Amino acid sequence: MLKYPPRLPLAQLPTPLQPLRRLQHREGGPLIWLKRDDMTGATLSGNKVRKLEFILAQAQLEGFDAVITCGGIQSNHCRATALAAAQLGFACHLILRGMPEHGQPAQGNHLLDELAGASIEYAAPKEYFASLDDIFQRQIDQYERLGKKALAIPTGGSNGIGIWGYIEATRELMDDCVALAFDPTSIICASGSGGTQAGLTVGAAIYCSGAKVYGINVCDDEDYFVNKVSADVKQWRQIYPEASAHLKQGPLGIHVIDGYVGAGYGQADKDVFDTIKMLGALEGVVLDPVYTGKAFDGLLKEIRQGRFADEKNLIFVHTGGVFGLAPYAADLSVG
Ligand SMILES: Cc1ncc(COP(=O)(O)O)c(C=O)c1O
Repeated sequence: MLKYPPRLPLAQLPTPLQPLRRLQHREGGPLIWLKRDDMTGATLSGNKVRKLEFILAQAQLEGFDAVITCGGIQSNHCRATALAAAQLGFACHLILRGMPEHGQPAQGNHLLDELAGASIEYAAPKEYFASLDDIFQRQIDQYERLGKKALAIPTGGSNGIGIWGYIEATRELMDDCVALAFDPTSIICASGSGGTQAGLTVGAAIYCSGAKVYGINVCDDEDYFVNKVSADVKQWRQIYPEASAHLKQGPLGIHVIDGYVGAGYGQADKDVFDTIKMLGALEGVVLDPVYTGKAFDGLLKEIRQGRFADEKNLIFVHTGGVFGLAPYAADLSVG
């Protein structure tokens, strides 16, 4: 039996596995099943909650009473961390990349950060990338002066502890598949900081060795994600050598579908917006332009080119992101 580390019950689980039958009728090809991890909660929702269940349990165990994390101004990870921290009684400080628009109220994730009572500092992108470690250290020192012990959580909660969230999600997914009587062959997700893909990759190797996990990157490139996923898995192996013995020998297959980043992180093209509108109207499922919409649009294009032609069922993990829609209202509004 795989021994799990401590875990807090933050997510509403299990999430549904929903077939997109009308989409299949329209597109042909394999039936796509959505693992609805956008439904891990209401405001505290999305993929980050699964990672935080393990990261914050460990933080409690080690006596931390404050957390610091970072991301873009509309970061889903920062919003989830701020809300979970408030729920559990941790102080929370967010380092957000970008400057709020002068005179404009916060919106989307940023507004929820404020409502969760997080303290927020903004760093212009240049400063953010050049001195993120220093900014973290400054804030850890600041909490220390206040008598608090602060944990620095990396971008996206992607590290050797956080990936447990998606190892456990893969076990849950296997339960779903057993109930539906099909063997998963391909599991696909959006990759932003790599932890979801890393957890699914380890989870698939432990629980469903016939399945391949694909990350569709929404930033950077294939090399970056192969290295990042490997690094998260390597750290997991180092922290949990006993658990790591459950993996079969040999290197893990890390599969990245590159080519759908478009103009860059957070920049979506018309195809992505059209896919979001199409899926909303056809299936009542809402994706976001930064992660799930970009990745799903990439998946549809791959299917149309015949990539998954031999497969009957595909699983796409809907990792959330709905609060990131607000800044794209002008591109998405059909009115
Ligand atoms: C909605 C959403 N989907 C997918 C991802 C990608 O997950 P990961 O950072 O684990 O690669 C993120 C965060 O980066 C996200 O916020």
